[in-house]
Amino acid sequence: MKYNFSPIPEPFKIKQSIKQDNFLVDGKLHQWEGEFSPVYSTISSEENYKPTLLGEIPSLGKDQAIQALDSACQAFDNGKGLWPTMKVVDRIKALENFVEEMKGKRDAVVNLLMWEIGKNHNDSKKEFDRTVDYIYDTIEAYKQIDRDSAKFQKNSGINAHIRRGPLGVVLCLGPYNYPLNETFCLLIPALIMGNTVIFKPAKHGVLLISPLMEAFQKHFPPGVVNILFGRGRVLATPIMESGKINVLALIGHSSSANALQESHPKKNRLRLVLGLEAKNPAIIMPDADLDLTIKECINGSLSFNGQRCTALKIIYVHEDIKESFISRFSQEVDKLKYGNPWDQNVNLTPLPEPNKPDYIKKLIIDAQSKGAKIMNNNGGISCENYVFPAVLYPVTKDMDVYKDEQFGPVVPIISFSDINKPLEDMAESNYGQQVSVFGKNTSTLGPLIDTLVNLVCRVNINSSCQRGPDIYPFTGRKDSAFSTLSVHDALRSFSIRTFVASKDNDVNNKIIKDLLGSNDSNFVSTDYIL
Ligand code: G3H
Repeated sequence: MKYNFSPIPEPFKIKQSIKQDNFLVDGKLHQWEGEFSPVYSTISSEENYKPTLLGEIPSLGKDQAIQALDSACQAFDNGKGLWPTMKVVDRIKALENFVEEMKGKRDAVVNLLMWEIGKNHNDSKKEFDRTVDYIYDTIEAYKQIDRDSAKFQKNSGINAHIRRGPLGVVLCLGPYNYPLNETFCLLIPALIMGNTVIFKPAKHGVLLISPLMEAFQKHFPPGVVNILFGRGRVLATPIMESGKINVLALIGHSSSANALQESHPKKNRLRLVLGLEAKNPAIIMPDADLDLTIKECINGSLSFNGQRCTALKIIYVHEDIKESFISRFSQEVDKLKYGNPWDQNVNLTPLPEPNKPDYIKKLIIDAQSKGAKIMNNNGGISCENYVFPAVLYPVTKDMDVYKDEQFGPVVPIISFSDINKPLEDMAESNYGQQVSVFGKNTSTLGPLIDTLVNLVCRVNINSSCQRGPDIYPFTGRKDSAFSTLSVHDALRSFSIRTFVASKDNDVNNKIIKDLLGSNDSNFVSTDYIL
């Protein structure tokens, strides 16, 4: 496969490289005078393949990490800070002002999403818009939580005013495949609940935060949001070692999550909000509607080149239909169009990690050496920034592609005659996020669903796996997740129930009444946000 050069259309050209020369700590954009790291795109702007230099980011070190930590701790101020004690309506106002300004940066962020991670134009626009919607939905969900708690309860002679309070200082680390959406799905609920945050953008998808730096600075009090650039290990390790982090919010790999937890000296202080790997299977029953199944499996396994935690990463097909499924699925894979993210109707786009094509090739070679075949004509054909998806069959447990979360364009297939085969594999797996089941017979599907819901956290019937809609719970078992995310659940994950209690007597009741009338406390308040 030759590198498929097409001239960059005018609106998407990177006119000049972006020098991200500051970082946000204590409400100030600090000019960085030290070392910088280049940011390259694997998309070439020239006919002879060459990665494109997009810009550079500061290589911050331990000192800046600790500076950010001190700033976040000071802004939280052991619960006394302006932000954690602020009226809910005022925190909401800050978020609303932020998102208004963010909307004006859509084109810049969308263009960088395409260049930095190779996401196609439509999906890049979707990622931006979905994030904006998520912020508005979060605001509405928080208003509802606040309304529900704008009241007193009385039980066994004790009056109680119960609300949700912040947890403290949050370290927030997002993934490269959804560098805006998934990062903000952690950041925004953490902030709105009154926590203060240190945030380091993902390795790929980092410059797209540049257009938003001023909005973060302008709309939040000093120290509430701190943004660092550099290597995760250099920055996150000393922050965790301080023991001052209350929540580790990370979407990424369990090895990073484990290492960071290990470096925290006060384990019970640390709450975890983690979205990690998955190896979601498709299980195709003999009576499955093949047209529908193939369409969903293509989308499920190969949208954004399979670089989604929810992607279908292994397909189990029943022996009775394996031949027709594999041959038709392989033909459809070969029809997928590879190109740059802005090309019309493009399905497959450059892989943002420079070492990914080699890794995918190694998975294919390893599988072939152990008996698998590439079932589609174009499978495994490669160029500098891509490997055409390979459909591999028969895949066995000793192959790396069976064990690894491939997170890229390769589709392993296993056939089965006994449904216990995929069920046992799922039970044995370290992962437990979602599954897709294809079939029609309810007397087979019914009991299967009853087992699958106990192995994963979402069973998709005749549909590929996905996170959305964001209103639904997104979580996983085992090494796939810790805590639940959804618009509503994320607000719970970043907060804790805390309350004011008083024995029911004249003195206490007068105090409560006076507090409610005086506005002296932002917590003890029955104000109703409309
Ligand atoms: O990478 C994991 C994402 O949460 C997947 O989200 O199913 O909307 O692509 P998605």
